[in-house]
Amino acid sequence: MAIGVFDSGLGGLSAVKELMNVLPCEDIVYFGDTGRVPYGNRSRDTIIKYAQQDVNFLLSHNVKVIIAACGTVSSVATELYSTTPVPFTGVVNPTAQAAAQATRNGRIGVIGTTATINSHSYKRCLKDINPNLEIFEKDCPLFVPLVENGFTDPDDIIVRSVVERYTEQFKTCGVDTVILGCTHYPLLTDAIQQAMGEEVTLINSGEATALYTAKLLEENGLNTSSLTPGNSTFYVSDTPDDFETMAGVFLGRDIRHKVTQIDIEQY
Ligand code: DGL
Repeated sequence: MAIGVFDSGLGGLSAVKELMNVLPCEDIVYFGDTGRVPYGNRSRDTIIKYAQQDVNFLLSHNVKVIIAACGTVSSVATELYSTTPVPFTGVVNPTAQAAAQATRNGRIGVIGTTATINSHSYKRCLKDINPNLEIFEKDCPLFVPLVENGFTDPDDIIVRSVVERYTEQFKTCGVDTVILGCTHYPLLTDAIQQAMGEEVTLINSGEATALYTAKLLEENGLNTSSLTPGNSTFYVSDTPDDFETMAGVFLGRDIRHKVTQIDIEQY
């Protein structure tokens, strides 16, 4: 049985990339809702409806665990944690834990979609871990469209301007750690690091969540016994072409002709 991973589009691949490193023998079924991206500026009801359909699709593939590799779904569709019939994780808790461990001065910046930032999910989780932490939040609604359209080069003037605009407030707050609270944002790591300076630690939600998933499988006795490299299959809700190209570059492997389009409204 495979690990099911979903996101509104490309972003969840940042978790897939890390999963492939941490759990190389596991099979992965990935769904990117490219026909309905972005989620982050939609209403709570719509995000919950979309997320439930994404979960239903993955369950139809008989997955053993589901990862909502999407900061927005993890922050807003919280009922999925208790209603999903297989072990389920989002990205908020693992990422907050990693940030709380990484900070030296207790000042943490959080960037995410508008829905994520308005939910204050990361802030609440960080305060539960340590009430003395100081949290500074900023939504970055232009980041997801940039990434989905292939604008990630830190030397691109448009990328640099948008990243600088969104992160400038963190410079005056003296944060030493910034949570990339949306799984699309690791694709902008170089640009964000350049804007924030090398001394600031960026926390990649994909990496923290992959490590947490390894623990989840272990705790539930769900690890594969296979010793051969796992298979990954990819599904999207719009034409696969752009996704294949971008995903291939990002994952560092050729996935052309391995992406299938499905009708998510049927789930
Ligand atoms: N990767 C999703 C997240 O982590 C992007 C949300 C969106 O589609 O706006 O929030």
